[in-house]
Amino acid sequence: MKNVLVTGGAGFIGSHTVVELLNSGFGVVVVDNLVNSCEESLTRVEKITGKAVKFYKNDVRDRAALDKIFEENKIDWVIHFAGLKAVGESCEMPIEYYDNNLNGTLVLLQAMRAHGCKKIVFSSSATVYGDPEVLPLTEQCKTGGTTNPYGTSKYFQEIMLGDVYKSDNEWTVVLLRYFNPVGAHESGLIGEDPKGIPNNLTPYIAKVAIGELKEVGVFGNDYPTHDGTGVRDYIHVVDLAKGHVASIDKIDANGVFVYNLGTGIGYSVLDVIHAFEKACGHKLPYVIKPRRAGDIAACYADAGKAKAELGWKAELGIDEMCASLWNWQQKNPNGYNK
Ligand code: NAD
Ligand code: UFG
Repeated sequence: MKNVLVTGGAGFIGSHTVVELLNSGFGVVVVDNLVNSCEESLTRVEKITGKAVKFYKNDVRDRAALDKIFEENKIDWVIHFAGLKAVGESCEMPIEYYDNNLNGTLVLLQAMRAHGCKKIVFSSSATVYGDPEVLPLTEQCKTGGTTNPYGTSKYFQEIMLGDVYKSDNEWTVVLLRYFNPVGAHESGLIGEDPKGIPNNLTPYIAKVAIGELKEVGVFGNDYPTHDGTGVRDYIHVVDLAKGHVASIDKIDANGVFVYNLGTGIGYSVLDVIHAFEKACGHKLPYVIKPRRAGDIAACYADAGKAKAELGWKAELGIDEMCASLWNWQQKNPNGYNK
């Protein structure tokens, strides 16, 4: 059995990926400092899968803690989710963001090298493309031109990982550029649990649907898109999780491998609101607000490379994304804090 160390495994995408890894027969070790999650998510993962998750509550910047993890477990692959991810917050706290995201990755790479584990899957983001020159985005599109410290930290981490491979061709580096991950596991046991008022569209809509927030603010209706509102490539978190398993299953060579993980379909803010209305069975109030600083008009993937090389493609559509999020929201109105 292959063992995977999942950093940030208690988080939104991490917990869904741990489920898919366990269901595919991998052994899983999680390291997470719980700065943006709680251990309950892993208890729920164990409930879904009927399998145990070995958990270390540590910071990935803690080299001694990582050494202990590598000494106590034979690790074949690392999937590196641990990081801070709020775009707005990163503009207010760039030092904390660069410290956490860049130092976290550096310390992890040092520990991996010391323990002879040279296979890493990294959580990158469509944000590395900046404001797209062409759509759909292929992996060959220019990167950089990021507009906030969070995005810039992702861009820097991609470069760091590429340099590591250049210096030592025994590494396998997989850069997965996620588009907009949404939805929840079909069980309703795990899902996204944002702290405070959500910044992202779909958790905000879910809180309006359940009556916790008054109305959805639509950030701009004068973009050059089919209805004037921002267009994104929303991808079901379970499909995204499966993309990680496909990477580990299929990639057997050393090198740097880059894949877009998206559906290839762009939906506008109003499209998503209307899809959610179908899922929850009632109309959702919304108001048009000014554009949000730093937002781009449209962003969606060409996901053909992942299909051709990994045999992976997103299977779930916008209706399943909204229905699963609504199921999670209803069953867990207070997230993991029951
Ligand atoms: P999340 O916040 O739910 O998960 C990240 C996890 O990492 C959390 O459990 C947090 O406690 C942990 N963590 C943070 N810093 C840590 C540290 N120094 N040491 C140990 N653990 C630490 O976020 P998510 O949505 O699951 O995102 C996972 C990864 O995917 C992140 O790297 C994020 O930047 C990236 N990503 C997310 C999105 C998105 O829209 N959700 C899009 C593109 C990329
Ligand atoms: N939006 C609203 N109202 C809201 C929230 C968002 O109209 O209350 C709009 C935005 O303007 C945008 C779309 O909904 O047009 C999606 O916004 P999100 O905040 O949900 O997502 P982003 O595309 O801004 O960014 C997300 C993650 C980033 C990641 C990026 C690409 O937050 O971390 O997807 O993966 F980098």
